[in-house]
Amino acid sequence: MARKFFVGGNWKCNGTTEEVRKIVTTLNEAEVPSHDVVEVVVSPPFVFLTLVKSLLRSDFHVAAQNCWVRKGGAFTGEISAEMLVNLGIPWVIIGHSERRALLNESNEFVGDKVAYALSQGLKVIACIGETLEQRESGSTMAVVAAQTKAIADKVTNWDNVVLAYEPVWAIGTGKVATPAQAQEVHFELRKWLNENVGADIAASTRIIYGGSVNGANCQELAGQPDVDGFLVGGASLKPEFVDIIKSAT
Ligand code: G3H
Repeated sequence: MARKFFVGGNWKCNGTTEEVRKIVTTLNEAEVPSHDVVEVVVSPPFVFLTLVKSLLRSDFHVAAQNCWVRKGGAFTGEISAEMLVNLGIPWVIIGHSERRALLNESNEFVGDKVAYALSQGLKVIACIGETLEQRESGSTMAVVAAQTKAIADKVTNWDNVVLAYEPVWAIGTGKVATPAQAQEVHFELRKWLNENVGADIAASTRIIYGGSVNGANCQELAGQPDVDGFLVGGASLKPEFVDIIKSAT
């Protein structure tokens, strides 16, 4: 099955109302390949989700950057999957390495979150990736396989899952994975899915790369056979995000 190129913009904890409006204006005025060719999803902070959704062109969609692991209730400061659905937010990012590292989100917790978000009808960008120490000790595949297994243990239908491989050492560092490094891990991840989840799911699930992607390095990364798109942080706040979207062709 052909995998449509996917470009996500993770705005993280950035932006004022004015800045958000400016980014959206840039995106709305951009000439990019059609929705048949590339799926574009931007992820503003929670407080700007409805504003961005209301202003953003209709061929682009929005994602939340997180949601609670189960039904809402007495969980101060959390946002439930049901609330996102209620607001018409179609996507959510789950398991970003910043949350895994800073907020101690375990593989199992991330797996539970992915499953719950899917059960409520959200589409999920599920993030995995190794630290520099893990890469240097040769455990990259063991780490990302364990992270993926924790998701696979809880999820049966992968139709609404995009897997984002984001090596922690490449995030926000300007030290992008080489195309060969990205392709190697994406290939191994697809092989893991094939052997542990199913051939159809391995063939159809989009595996996107994140970590210092920019307008200059996106083309070569996009040319790798198992790189199905990007999750972009810093560059998604800049006009060059449009160039990254264009790397789909
Ligand atoms: O979610 C996006 C990643 O954390 C990548 O961030 O492009 O700023 O390295 P970055």
